[in-house]
Amino acid sequence: MAKTCAYLFLLSLTFTFFIFSSASSEEEILLTFKSSFEDSNNYLSTWSNNSAIHYCNWTGITCSPTPSLSVTTVNLQSLNLTGEISSSICQLHNLTDLNLSDNHFNQPIPLHLSQCTTLETLNLSNNHIWGTIPDQISLSGSLKKLDFSRNRIEGKIPESIGSLQNLQVINLGSNFLSGSVPSVFGNFTELVVLDLSQNLNLMSEVPREIGKLEKLEKLFLQSSGFHGAIPDSFVGLQSLTILDLSQNNLTGEVPQMLGSSLKNLVSFDVSQNKLLGPFPSGICNGKGLINLSLHTNFFAGSIPNSISQCLNLERFQVQNNGFSGDFPNDLWSLPKIKLIRAENNIFSGVIPDSVSMAAQLEQVQLDNNSLTSRIPQGLGLVKSLYRFSASLNSLYGELPPNFCDSPVMSIINLSHNSLSGRIPELKKCRKLVSLSLSDNSFTGEIPPSLSDLPVLTYLDLSENNLTGPIPLGLQNLKLALFNVSFNKLSGRVPYSLISGLPASFLEGNSGLCGQGLPKACSDDQPRHHTLGLTTLTCALISVAFGLGTLIVAAGFFVYHRSSKQNSQMGSWRSVFFYPLRVTESDLVMGMDEKSAVGIGGAFGRVYVLGLPSGELVAVKKLVNYGSQSSKSLKAEIKTLAKIRHKNVIKILGFCHSDDSIFLIYEFLQKGSLGDLLHKPGFQLLWGVRLRIAIGVAQGLAYLHKDYVPHLLHRNIKSNNILLDADFEPKLTDFALDRIVGEAAFQSTIASESALSCYIAPECGYSKKATEQMEVYSFGVVLLELVTGRPAEQAESAESLDIVKWVRRKVNITNGAYQVLDPNISDSSQQDMLGVLDIALQCTSVMPEKRPSMFEVVRALQSLDSRSPLPSTEFSTSEGHSVSV
Ligand SMILES: *[C@@H]1O[C@H](CO)[C@@H](O)[C@H](O)[C@H]1NC(C)=O
Ligand SMILES: *[C@@H]1O[C@H](CO)[C@@H](O)[C@H](O)[C@H]1NC(C)=O
Ligand SMILES: *[C@@H]1O[C@H](CO)[C@@H](O)[C@H](O)[C@H]1NC(C)=O
Ligand SMILES: *[C@@H]1O[C@H](CO)[C@@H](O)[C@H](O)[C@H]1NC(C)=O
Ligand SMILES: *[C@@H]1O[C@H](CO)[C@@H](O)[C@H](O)[C@H]1NC(C)=O
Ligand SMILES: *[C@@H]1O[C@H](CO)[C@@H](O)[C@H](O)[C@H]1NC(C)=O
Ligand SMILES: *[C@@H]1O[C@H](CO)[C@@H](O)[C@H](O)[C@H]1NC(C)=O
Ligand SMILES: *[C@@H]1O[C@H](CO)[C@@H](O)[C@H](O)[C@H]1NC(C)=O
Ligand SMILES: *[C@@H]1O[C@H](CO)[C@@H](O)[C@H](O)[C@H]1NC(C)=O
Ligand SMILES: *[C@@H]1O[C@H](CO)[C@@H](O)[C@H](O)[C@H]1NC(C)=O
Repeated sequence: MAKTCAYLFLLSLTFTFFIFSSASSEEEILLTFKSSFEDSNNYLSTWSNNSAIHYCNWTGITCSPTPSLSVTTVNLQSLNLTGEISSSICQLHNLTDLNLSDNHFNQPIPLHLSQCTTLETLNLSNNHIWGTIPDQISLSGSLKKLDFSRNRIEGKIPESIGSLQNLQVINLGSNFLSGSVPSVFGNFTELVVLDLSQNLNLMSEVPREIGKLEKLEKLFLQSSGFHGAIPDSFVGLQSLTILDLSQNNLTGEVPQMLGSSLKNLVSFDVSQNKLLGPFPSGICNGKGLINLSLHTNFFAGSIPNSISQCLNLERFQVQNNGFSGDFPNDLWSLPKIKLIRAENNIFSGVIPDSVSMAAQLEQVQLDNNSLTSRIPQGLGLVKSLYRFSASLNSLYGELPPNFCDSPVMSIINLSHNSLSGRIPELKKCRKLVSLSLSDNSFTGEIPPSLSDLPVLTYLDLSENNLTGPIPLGLQNLKLALFNVSFNKLSGRVPYSLISGLPASFLEGNSGLCGQGLPKACSDDQPRHHTLGLTTLTCALISVAFGLGTLIVAAGFFVYHRSSKQNSQMGSWRSVFFYPLRVTESDLVMGMDEKSAVGIGGAFGRVYVLGLPSGELVAVKKLVNYGSQSSKSLKAEIKTLAKIRHKNVIKILGFCHSDDSIFLIYEFLQKGSLGDLLHKPGFQLLWGVRLRIAIGVAQGLAYLHKDYVPHLLHRNIKSNNILLDADFEPKLTDFALDRIVGEAAFQSTIASESALSCYIAPECGYSKKATEQMEVYSFGVVLLELVTGRPAEQAESAESLDIVKWVRRKVNITNGAYQVLDPNISDSSQQDMLGVLDIALQCTSVMPEKRPSMFEVVRALQSLDSRSPLPSTEFSTSEGHSVSV
């Protein structure tokens, strides 16, 4: 009796305590919870018992609104937490959301969380949770979202999971679950998202019961070892928007009614299975072609739903199966369709002219089927199409003249078909990268307009009946592949077009002649002058701006002097940002032939001057600058002179008169990277080269993103990278456009470097300078560092520019090894290949595929063994094939 009393007393005490200190008690619960795990980055510094901050305002905590103030959400995602997940958190009586995703918790599924009876969301995604899902799993009945994805959970999914009937989201993707999926999924009547993807060890049929889930919107079962047929019951998935069954072992046919019932479908993916048979007649409507006028009516609301159904479909992927029969025709005219992939099946049928109605179509891949069709005129009317490939079919007839009219068209592959007639002139597809028409029956000449497509890189016209000469203009393209073998071409082959490419790309054309071919041309001697001269000019220009400057002084001084004594040169105005003890007349007098370096760069000559103090400075004399007022000129140069970065050269000051500007830079003894590369026997250790690359990348990233205003360099090349005594690189000649004005800059730069290989291909048609163009130029510098070759070589007319040379090599097996500088020891090869990979991505012909300078910095740093950094998301593992 006394004992019971004591108990009651204790209970009431505890109870009173809870009532009285409910606020501090939640705080204590949180502190206890925190004490079970390790917060090595100290992200949860606010979680402390003597904190001035109320616990409702602690990192990751959300409380119910005043006055009740009770913790409802604990969101600790991505805080690098380790240790134990303690059940103490369940003492929070109002906790609904617990998100511990993206940490390093390494333990079995914390079953004690079943004590959290109010929980609605439990997110443990992306940790190291291991072990099986226990049979007795009994989490809160109110649980709506359960996310265990991206862990190491193994074993079977227990039947008992069916008790969690209120679940709206189940994500068990990317684990090691195995065995057969239990047939309890019919219980989840509220389910909206089901993800069992990426569980390679599952060996299961797709549960029929899933078909009962009328609210299901997203079903992800890809890459999970599902076999057997797609259940007929799937026609019940009225709300489904995303269906992904790809990369399983599914067999049989697609249920006949599937297409017509899935009205809300946006993405349909059953690719890479063993499905076969004819596709349901009309994945979307069962009634064949949708008529444009019907569409119009439909949107006006007067067409019965049964006629056109999945009008929201954007992605249709059925590639790599065994489907046969006619390709579903109505797909072609769906208003929102973007992606159609059906390659590697046995589809027959035609591509209808109504494809013109697919106004959002971007990508079509139909290769390796049995289509018997003309290329419809309507295809050329789709202005969003960027990829169309239908090789290995029985396409016939002539190419419509508009077939490449889409302004974004990038890849066309119609090889191995029976197309005939002439190849139309291609004028509108300025972004075409790859064109393959090989193994057809085309006749006539190679259209000269191909030479005007600025980014064309892969051109395969082999095995046709083409006649006439190879258009000379093609040598201006950076072609990585040029195959015209087995045609009836004749005449001289421009040597630069084919140098570095396998001779087999020309064979089977008995009329072709020229250097390196079995047949020499009879008419005249080889003429290499034109090309020789342009490369020579390039090289000379590049030598011009070789040497730089160094000064000891630091700080930021602005000396402002109006010169009155200088009579003969008119009126000079100077601004010095450093205490330079020099007058305008010293500068003017000192600038003579002896002090000049090189023959004059893009905007004027560079002189090296010794100051009375003994210091050396480099002075660039800009002539021909635009109509900037003295005031704005000063403002612009000041903007540039304020840049403080170890990889950008300092502007020490400037003076200007009415017709010239002298820019005074620090002088660097070692000269430019371009000079070093051009010296015979160029040798620089790999570690030094990598540091130069990182420095330049950091300088550029700084100009692009960190400096305000953001700046573009506009003229990146190895000659504009100066090296100090420790080989620390510094960018020079940057942002001259701001000084001389855009118009003067354009006309000077454009005329001097139109053919320079540092210039990104899109400069041809896009005049606006972009960061992506700079990334390209930087990529060319990287190629120089990896190969040890100057980008442009003057000595031999046959030499290719570096981008072409590398592209052609890396296309060959093991070619990547051949481009690496042989002067560098094999032990650095892996790192060099890594940098080569980055360089190839930077010099990708497609601007949007190039990484940002910031990503480049991180990728390069991760290769630098001296300062190991965590690996970055920026992928350097896409192999060494040329990225387009
Ligand atoms: C509160 O902080 C003190 C030290 O500041 C510590 O000794 C004590 O254990 C903490 N109490 C709780 C509940 O964490
Ligand atoms: C949390 O911080 C906000 C803004 O600083 C403040 O208005 C609010 O009163 C704080 N809440 C509590 C419970 O202290
Ligand atoms: C995460 O925490 C571990 C120690 O637990 C630490 O070594 C590591 O540097 C942390 N990672 C990050 C990105 O802060
Ligand atoms: C929090 O939980 C307690 C006890 O379960 C309950 O009485 C209270 O109403 C809840 N407060 C809120 C804001 O939900
Ligand atoms: C983490 O969980 C909280 C609470 O459920 C939620 O608000 C937040 O969006 C979640 N984070 C992510 C990335 O889903
Ligand atoms: C769980 O958190 C991750 C972020 O770490 C988020 O991507 C995911 O959407 C969350 N799951 C749910 C069901 O909210
Ligand atoms: C499915 O739900 C019913 C109640 O609707 C329940 O009785 C049954 O136990 C659940 N099945 C499983 C496997 O938990
Ligand atoms: C498909 O089944 C075969 C055996 O029939 C197996 O070797 C293969 O790994 C399975 N593929 C997948 C993706 O599960
Ligand atoms: C499209 O509709 C128009 C009338 O609305 C009709 O004349 C035409 O035949 C239809 N075309 C097809 C291919 O059904
Ligand atoms: C090329 O034309 C000849 C007739 O001139 C024909 O016999 C041959 O089949 C054609 N070749 C191709 C690949 O079309």
